[in-house]
Amino acid sequence: MKREIYLDNSATTRIDSRVLEEMARVAGQSFGNPSSLHRKGREGERILNASRKELADLLGIREREIIFTSGGTESNNLAVLGIARRYRRRGTHLITTAIEHSSILQPFQLLEKEGFEVTYLLPDSKGLLDPQAVLQALRPETTLVSIMHVNNEVGSLQPINGISALLKRKKADLIFHVDAVQSFGKIPLPPGLQGIDALSISAHKFHGPKGVGALYLKEGVLIEPLFLGGGHEKGLRPGTENTPGVAGMALAARQSFEKMKGKTAQLREMKRLLTSSLETRYPWIKINGPRYDEKESAPHITNISFPGLKGEIIVHALEEEGIYVSTGSACHSNAKGESHVLQAMGLDKPEMEGAIRFSFSGETQMEEIDTAAKKINEVISRLKQLHEKMARV
Ligand SMILES: Cc1ncc(COP(=O)(O)O)c(C=O)c1O
Repeated sequence: MKREIYLDNSATTRIDSRVLEEMARVAGQSFGNPSSLHRKGREGERILNASRKELADLLGIREREIIFTSGGTESNNLAVLGIARRYRRRGTHLITTAIEHSSILQPFQLLEKEGFEVTYLLPDSKGLLDPQAVLQALRPETTLVSIMHVNNEVGSLQPINGISALLKRKKADLIFHVDAVQSFGKIPLPPGLQGIDALSISAHKFHGPKGVGALYLKEGVLIEPLFLGGGHEKGLRPGTENTPGVAGMALAARQSFEKMKGKTAQLREMKRLLTSSLETRYPWIKINGPRYDEKESAPHITNISFPGLKGEIIVHALEEEGIYVSTGSACHSNAKGESHVLQAMGLDKPEMEGAIRFSFSGETQMEEIDTAAKKINEVISRLKQLHEKMARV
């Protein structure tokens, strides 16, 4: 069997074996409903409390500030819809960016239909926001600003601390939400989440299980629930809790925090190795997002355009070689199949069509990058020759 090299860790990661064991243990033994009054229920409740404490300790926040959800999409929906609607009487202007994940953009579009006004900020050509532009968009009636920490397609890293400080200085009662789905466990967050009022995470992006996540909601910030039907999670997210998932997420979070320090430099080196190997051989390619040596570049994501070639064809040709990657527009594209992120960054059509995202994790090995770089070089040469041959016919 061909050796597999998985470079699509921003789509999802492989679940860690210890996490899987812990989930099986909880599901098999501590399966009681945390709301049940008997011993089995109390056992479930203990698992929930311990997991909440683990996450709170890692983030330097209070346990009561964590709401467990079904993942990043739900955390984002709950934050955007729940906060905007709850503070509607205070103001109906909201700010976000044009490069957010669709689980942020679509709730904002829904709010527009409900009578809110939304400012969608455009990034520069590297996918970075200008903090001053965020400040300028602020109005007396702005209630919520939502900005992602790391962009999932190009790996641009926004200066969330700086942006939040600027905004709060001008408007202290503003609520600042951060989609940290792509950064949690990989890039340090502000200690105690200072300056942040709400933050979304998703377990399957850091070697935890799929279908579980959390929303940090700073004490005192109010939210309107999206679901109704029980008092779970203080009535803000009713539904019997996913105890195996939550326990798995807490363990995966701890493991990724423990490994984070040692891995960052290594991930950045992988990004450098892959990018420079391709750039040297093919000077016509385009690196999308900040370069590996810039501080605004997330170390685990690199996005490269091969103009003239089709991203989808590259993905399948690499798959034949056992290498798994994504097109830039894998899941969040417009009607024409183009990535809204690359579009907002000003890429032209061939650059958008030929975009590929490579994403690493703490599990990725340096020698895998070496092998992948060679194979990618071969595949690109083959496709380029084919493309030129077709053009001559
Ligand atoms: C930036 C970002 N936000 C939110 C999500 C949604 O998370 P989930 O897959 O847990 O619903 C993703 C998933 O790709 C993401 O990359």
